[in-house]
Amino acid sequence: MSDDRKIIFGGDYFPEQWPEEIWEEDLHLMKQANVNMVSLGIFAWALLQPDEDTFTFGWLDKVMDLLADNGIDVCLGTSTAAQPNWLTQKYDDILFMRETGERPACGSRQTYCINSPSYRKAVRRLAKEMALHYKGHRALKLWHINNEYANKNSMCFCKNCEKNFQKWLKKKYKTLANLNECWGTVFWSEKYSNWKEINTPRASAGGRNATKLLDYKRFLSESFFTLYKEEYDVIRTITPDIPVTTNFEGDWSKFDHFLFRDNLDVASLNFYPNPSDLNSYKWAALRHSMMRSLLGKPFMVMEQAPSQVDWYPVNIAKHPGLMRLWSYQALAHGSDSVMFFQWRASKKGAEKYHSGMVPHYGENSRVFKEISALGNELKKVKDIADSKVNSEVAILLDNDSWWSVDSPYGRGTKSLDNEVFWSANGQPFPTVLVSYFGELEYYFNAFHDLNVPVDVIGIDYDLSKYKIVVAPLLHMIKPGLKEAVQDFVKKGGIFITTYFSGVIDEFVGVFLDGYLGPLKDVLGVKVEEYNPLPPGGKNRMLMTENAEGFRKDYGCSIWCDVAHPITAKTLAAFTDGYYSGAPSLTENKFGDGKAYYVATRPDRDFMRDFLSKILSEQNIKVSPLPEEVELVVRSRNGEDYNFYLNHGETEKHVKLPEGKYEDLLTGAVYENILHLAKYGVYILRTKERKS
Ligand code: GLA
Ligand code: ZN
Repeated sequence: MSDDRKIIFGGDYFPEQWPEEIWEEDLHLMKQANVNMVSLGIFAWALLQPDEDTFTFGWLDKVMDLLADNGIDVCLGTSTAAQPNWLTQKYDDILFMRETGERPACGSRQTYCINSPSYRKAVRRLAKEMALHYKGHRALKLWHINNEYANKNSMCFCKNCEKNFQKWLKKKYKTLANLNECWGTVFWSEKYSNWKEINTPRASAGGRNATKLLDYKRFLSESFFTLYKEEYDVIRTITPDIPVTTNFEGDWSKFDHFLFRDNLDVASLNFYPNPSDLNSYKWAALRHSMMRSLLGKPFMVMEQAPSQVDWYPVNIAKHPGLMRLWSYQALAHGSDSVMFFQWRASKKGAEKYHSGMVPHYGENSRVFKEISALGNELKKVKDIADSKVNSEVAILLDNDSWWSVDSPYGRGTKSLDNEVFWSANGQPFPTVLVSYFGELEYYFNAFHDLNVPVDVIGIDYDLSKYKIVVAPLLHMIKPGLKEAVQDFVKKGGIFITTYFSGVIDEFVGVFLDGYLGPLKDVLGVKVEEYNPLPPGGKNRMLMTENAEGFRKDYGCSIWCDVAHPITAKTLAAFTDGYYSGAPSLTENKFGDGKAYYVATRPDRDFMRDFLSKILSEQNIKVSPLPEEVELVVRSRNGEDYNFYLNHGETEKHVKLPEGKYEDLLTGAVYENILHLAKYGVYILRTKERKS
């Protein structure tokens, strides 16, 4: 076992916000808290480059040296998330443009347009100067490009974006005739006769061309990646041995994170669950799993709040013990780091009410004491670094389906009030009650309730590693996907998809002759029509004689597809409405595997019974535990680290599998029953196996 394993512990550090006398104290407190890495220079552009031709690294050199002298590593930010005012003033293409044509004022961050040539040029230059300057510095261990891409500037409608969009379209469609055909511009007389007529898809008088909207989103999404790649290439060339990351916000609909996959050395997540929501740990489990799956290896938590944030409507503090619990939860799901925004709570600026590892009250505060206790405790769990969460289940995440179902341009409003719903900005959809990500989360949570780890992967990932692949609301089917799914099922895999899947092709054209489209063969069923249910509306799923191991019937809501089996068996049928008797669940044998189609949103008890049955058939371990107790296992070389986490506020009891277990944190040995204290964390490894 390697001795240099460690859990990275630290946070964003902004020494530039403080006089130098404080730096010594910072170092002293960092050591006290066992901080071993800080992120520097995240928003320091104006200080690093006071004007176009001057670079001033002196102050940063001092901090870097000081950190190195104290054995603290640096994750060095390239500072490009907030451009200096002089740059914005000098070039008129820097600021992004809203759909309404306004640009944001200077004075905040992420005001730049991702396609601004002046911004991109300045970014490359700064990255180059920084990389040349810090190449070989003993503190530099990781590059941190930009910060939270797309947080505020995910959409831009400026002239540069328009021009680049036209270029992008030319490359994709070659001829206008082809574009007109693929976009279906014959509808509402939209036909384009010159590339220059293709504007950015701003709000119009009514519903807009869905293919154009989607292509524009794809174009912006790729622009985020190419912007990142420009910095990445500069840095990589100069410091080829230093890994590179950028911290993701965790909201994957702003751009397609899978695009970054081959140019990212470690995935890193900013993770801000709401402490006032008791289900936040499920929310977090999904985000962690997404980040772990992106590269299929341990990721980093780059930021979380030591206590409260300042941007929920009400920002409650993380109560004692919660910060520790959620930090271990991140480790459980595959993070090798626990990092925070930010080291010292700001005295000034927009974020002064956001918590810091060192709060305004200083080192005698509750928060610093908890931080420092955690930093020191993490030494005991260093062995878990680099271990893996082995998932045999994967959920497919397809950004195109996401953007097509949950419009990035808004559906007008989330309100059910028709008058406000049909706004000019809206993208028509059968119901506001359906959400792509909501459906994905529903399936993820159903597995998570059984303590079954799930990877969340892109549609072009290797499916053969998994026994079960679930594709909730896989609305769009792109070329190649049908074959990938068929191949997976043929070889013995279990595939599950849901209502309103297989509806459109890559150009947003609807598949004729039955929804499920290219998935009809593998699922053995096709869909004639759909019926969204009214708010609160229910139907029932009556299990047929084909279904074993289920109750007699279950409730369902939100949506009912009206489907016709071709080769599939009907396992459940709707009981109500004009389509009573139509299948609500089907099973189709295909090669050595099976494909299931769920025509509705079943209630949770069905999900539990359905998934338990499939999991047990696939010999995947299910661990039903008391509510609010989570179990996640990380493993390496046959050794399991079983994380038992009590997210509840009362003591819980868990029956342990046979054997003796030792807790990495306390050395205590457990057998038979584990009593979990409120917010308790237990990392058990097998001490003795019963043979
Ligand atoms: C984001 C940013 C940080 C900070 C935090 C506050 O994650 O990356 O710079 O603003 O939010 O919660
Ligand atoms: Zn722009």
